[in-house]
Order: sequence, then structure tokens, then C-alpha cells
Amino acid sequence: MASRVHLGILGAGTVGGAVHDLIATGHLARFGVEADVVKVFTRTPGDKARYRVSPELFTTEAAEVTGHPDVDIVVEVLGAGGPDDLLAQKEWVVDALRNGKSVVTANKALLVAHGAEIWTAARECGRAVRFEACVGGGIPIIGPLTQSLSAERPTAVYGLVNGTCNYILTEMAQRGRSYEDALASAQALGYAEADPDADVSGRDAEAKLLLLSSITFGTRLKPGVIHRKGIEGIHAIDFLYAARKGRSTIKSMALARSVDGALEAMVTPMVVPEDHFIARIDGVTNAMFFKGEVSDGGAPDGGDWDYVFAGPGAGGGATAMAVLGDVHELVVRSDDAPFLPVESIVPGVGSVRPEDDLRASFYVRFVVRDQSGIVGELCQIFGEKRINVSEIWQLEHAGEELESLAGAGKGRAASSEVLPFVITLEETSVGQLRQALERIARKDYVLAEPLWLPIWRT
Ligand SMILES: NC(=O)c1ccc[n+]([C@@H]2O[C@H](COP(=O)([O-])OP(=O)(O)OC[C@H]3O[C@@H](n4cnc5c(N)ncnc54)[C@H](OP(=O)(O)O)[C@@H]3O)[C@@H](O)[C@H]2O)c1
Repeated sequence: MASRVHLGILGAGTVGGAVHDLIATGHLARFGVEADVVKVFTRTPGDKARYRVSPELFTTEAAEVTGHPDVDIVVEVLGAGGPDDLLAQKEWVVDALRNGKSVVTANKALLVAHGAEIWTAARECGRAVRFEACVGGGIPIIGPLTQSLSAERPTAVYGLVNGTCNYILTEMAQRGRSYEDALASAQALGYAEADPDADVSGRDAEAKLLLLSSITFGTRLKPGVIHRKGIEGIHAIDFLYAARKGRSTIKSMALARSVDGALEAMVTPMVVPEDHFIARIDGVTNAMFFKGEVSDGGAPDGGDWDYVFAGPGAGGGATAMAVLGDVHELVVRSDDAPFLPVESIVPGVGSVRPEDDLRASFYVRFVVRDQSGIVGELCQIFGEKRINVSEIWQLEHAGEELESLAGAGKGRAASSEVLPFVITLEETSVGQLRQALERIARKDYVLAEPLWLPIWRT
């Protein structure tokens, strides 16, 4: 039996346009769902190709979508903007819920900023909010974590959630390109925005991790609380050290795990062993891993289980598929149950470990002005902070590699004077490492801020 659903769309950009296109081509019809779009909000209707065909569909007033009597589900696919924009978008979503509509959103920034008020309104109104497209674009991850894997006791969720970063790091690793060159290529191919800061700084991945953490561990974290490091400081030589000396590569990881009753969460490039599955996820592909135990006494065949979700983490078409997957689910569900706020379905971890208390083994890359006794002095400083040095790695470098390092740091130096090398450290805390590096940074032979990256451990 066919079901009918009328959609209102807030936003007519890449994702909004793709949702509209899929509906127009009867994408849900094969599931017996007849869907149509009754109203679209955009501030610039005249710019949209579809406006020339059906101008009556468009409005510049969001309320004409959220309050439209025929709209059953509001699809919210707006670009996030600043805090005032997010506030306005939250009002529109709450307005839709109060008008009896369910909401499907792709806007992770909105949920991270105002999720609590939106869940409260959904609960009060008995309406649903679905957000599969917010993390991993077209990859199903929210549904599996909140439904299919609900018998598991989660221990970790982690992975590559930003295709722009993964593309840039893959290009640097496989082609030896500089960061600037790989970023320019990502922009030329449409994988990075003209202003790439949200991606390369890790802010986009942070928002996704906060959502993943909230549905996995019941946390309610705001941006700025967890450890976040971008990929801007990584140099092509870091891949040489990681590969030749450590049989590893570097990946931009988002990680939340439960350790001794506390949550450890971070977004950071990490040194990952070449034989880990994640090291082979290249280009713009996203991959998320879920680690869990069966709740009552462990998996029947022993040990933890890892689940992997990989695929297109962005793109209008892929993301629109996830949006329509949510629409489909809402249409076929007869009970119209509201989305359960996550703290009511998972017990939640006790606390979030402060950034300085995070523990890992570390890769630390130095660029110094070559002179005798430096390595001994650095090892002494680490020793005084009770940090054990594991290995010291040094490679021969081509002239142009040294050239690019010579001009990069605080003190310019002739390339013949520049000495890069890496010290790996046994497990220590971020706080102890920072204290040691603050002392080291004051040494006049240090030419650039040392790059420090956690080394992946399972
Ligand atoms: N593109 C992807 O691959 C992808 C993947 C996953 C999730 N998402 C999320 O999906 C949402 C839409 O992404 P998109 O790629 O479609 O973005 P987009 O192409 O930039 O389109 C965004 C839409 O929202 C409107 N808009 C932007 N800022 C606004 C504001 N402050 N107030 C009101 N309207 C505003 C835009 O302008 P007009 O009003 O002028 O039309 C446009 O209609 C975002 O939240 C994004 O994070 C995107």
C-alpha cells in the first residue's frame, strides 16, 4: 500500500537541491512512498534553477515551510553560519515540531549547538528528529549505532570523519605533496571550501565526534571541551618518518572511547600502523569504527567486536540519500515515536577526561639548527618530566625538503643548518608532554614549534 508524504525543505543548496531532485525522480516510489515537495525556503530563490520552472514552490519566509498545513516532514539542510544563524535555525526547527511536523536534518552544527532544546521540543510535541546525514554523509552510522547495535556495550567509536583532511593527508602520503599543494588540489576538485578552516582545523570532525559520542556514550559536550588539533602543521617529511621508521602513516582521527569509566575524546592527526585497516582508507572516503561488547558478559565467541562503516562521507547526492533514508523510515513507522534523547537509552559515562590527562605514546618531530648536544639535552628535559624516550629517528633529506623547513619556523636558517629528526615517547600524558615542550620551545636552536602526534594504540 502506498504512503504519501509532503515535504517542506529549509535550504536549497547542494544537499537541498539534491533532495529535491531525488524526490522529483521518484526516488522513494520503489518503496511504495509517494513523496512531493510543497515548499522550499531559500533567501535567494532567483538563483535557483528550479525556481524558473516552479516559482510557486519557493519562499523567502521559513515560517511558510515550518507552518505549511500540508507539510508532514520538514527537511532542514541549511548552511550553519554563526551563532545568530544557528539560533534562528533552532527556532525554525522548534517551530516545525510545535506545528506537528517531524524533522530530518543534515545540520550537525545546529544539533551540537542546540540539540538539547530540539530534543526537548521533539519530546514535548511527540514528533521525531532524525539526523543520519549529519555524520558520514551517505554512510549509515546513526541508525546502526542507535538501533542495530543497541545490544552492545560501547567501548569506542572512532574513525575518519572528514573527507577533506583524509584527501589531503593521502595526497601527502602517496605523492609526497606539500600540505599547501594538496590543499590547493582539494579545492580545485571541490573537496575543500575556498575557506578550508572548518575542515583542516578539525572543527567539522569535532562536531561529528560530539554527535557520535552523544549517541554512543550519552555525553552532552560542547565544542572546545575535547582535545582538537588540525592537520595544518603536518609536513611531507612526517610521512617519510612515519613510513620508513615506524611502518606507519598519518591519519586525521576522531576518537571517543570509554576508559576506566571516563570518556576520552579527541580529534587529532595520529600515527597509525600501516597494517591497521584505517591506514588503507584513502582519499575522500570516510570510515567509522565501533567497538563494543555484548552487554551481558561479553561476546559469545569471546573478545570485543569491531564494526566498520565506510563510504562517501559527503557530496550532495550521497547526503541526500541519507536524508531520504530518514524520511522513508519516518513514513513507514506507524507509531510516529519521537527520537529518544540519548541519555534515556544509554547509561552514559561518568566524566570526560581533561585534555591534559589524556595518555598516549607520542611522535614528536623537531626542526633545529644543527649543533652538538641537542638530542642529549632534549632527552634530559623529557627525563626530568618523567617521560621515557622510546626511539630517535633521523633520515637523510633532499635539499628542497630542508629548504621548506628552513623558512617555516620562528628563526630563519640556511637549509644547510637545518636538522629535522623525530623522537618517539613511551606512554605519557598530554599535560606532561606540553610542559616538556614548553621548556624545549625556549631553546634558541629550536627553529619551529615541535609537531607532536599521538601514536595509535588499539
Ligand atoms: N554538502 C555535503 O556534502 C554535506 C554532507 C553532510 C552534511 N551537510 C550539511 O548539510 C547542510 C547543507 O549543506 P550544503 O552543502 O547543501 O550547503 P550549501 O550548498 O551552502 O547550502 C546551504 C543552504 O542554506 C542556505 N543558508 C546558508 N546560510 C544560511 C543562513 N545563515 N541562514 C539561512 N539560510 C542559510 C543557503 O543559502 P540561500 O538561502 O541563499 O539558498 C543554501 O540554501 C549543512 O548544514 C552541512 O553541514 C552537507
